[in-house]
Amino acid sequence: MADKRPIGVFDSGLGGLTMVKKLTTLLPGENIVYLGDTGRVPYGSRSRDTIIKYANQDAAFLAGYDIKAMVIACNTVCSVAYNDLVKNYGIPVYEVVGAPAIKASEQTKNGVIGVIGTAATIRSRAYETALRKINRDFDIHSVACALFVPLVEEGWIDAADEAALKVAKRYLDCLLKSGVDTLILGCTHYPLLHEVIAKIMGPEVILVDSGAETAEYVAKDLSNRNMLCGEETGGNTRYFVTDSIEGFSNVASKYLESDVEGLVEQVTLE
Ligand code: DGL
Repeated sequence: MADKRPIGVFDSGLGGLTMVKKLTTLLPGENIVYLGDTGRVPYGSRSRDTIIKYANQDAAFLAGYDIKAMVIACNTVCSVAYNDLVKNYGIPVYEVVGAPAIKASEQTKNGVIGVIGTAATIRSRAYETALRKINRDFDIHSVACALFVPLVEEGWIDAADEAALKVAKRYLDCLLKSGVDTLILGCTHYPLLHEVIAKIMGPEVILVDSGAETAEYVAKDLSNRNMLCGEETGGNTRYFVTDSIEGFSNVASKYLESDVEGLVEQVTLE
């Protein structure tokens, strides 16, 4: 039977939109409820306990919308709090680390893989663990890029943005020198900086988008479980944020190439 309930997706801010963009392309009939905790972004520089506390509040909020599945579209949360969240809701809960790790392992030719993410994600070694399970001989180089999330939230994402290019060069230079041929964007915010990152890394380096890769997996898995809504088109997405609607709407509309104004509500989390 068709399952019309929405899919819940959350992130600390705008990053999870990389998941929403791909999910709505793959499953245009599905309804989505999105939460961006924009009032408390970034999560990546916070302590493990704080991230777990915020993640539980985010998940509880979405669970109030009778969702059929939950996507944690935040590498930081997945890296430190997935095990806490996965058992609480009795619905499929998806994380964003496994699928990009598999993709990177398939794409690399020289076995030298770069991982960029927030401080919490890199500290957790979640990607190293996932990659080494696939092949323990991979040469993995990880870099925390703390300033990427604020750049995205500020909307400084154009390939011509000099500040963004300077920051990216400083973080990514060592990866270039290490000879990585595949780079995992291990934070869902980073694909919004795709052009900036690609400009620094050059055309030879394959960039793996954790949100988009996971969206492919989610679409397949929901289909296998017979949990899709059965509609080909017409799904809608509601957006909830915990800070001003305006800042979120501007960047979101630009990134999604569709006007989200009127679809975004501000909420308080408990
Ligand atoms: N987009 C998130 C991630 O994938 C978190 C960014 C942050 O809040 O620091 O890690």
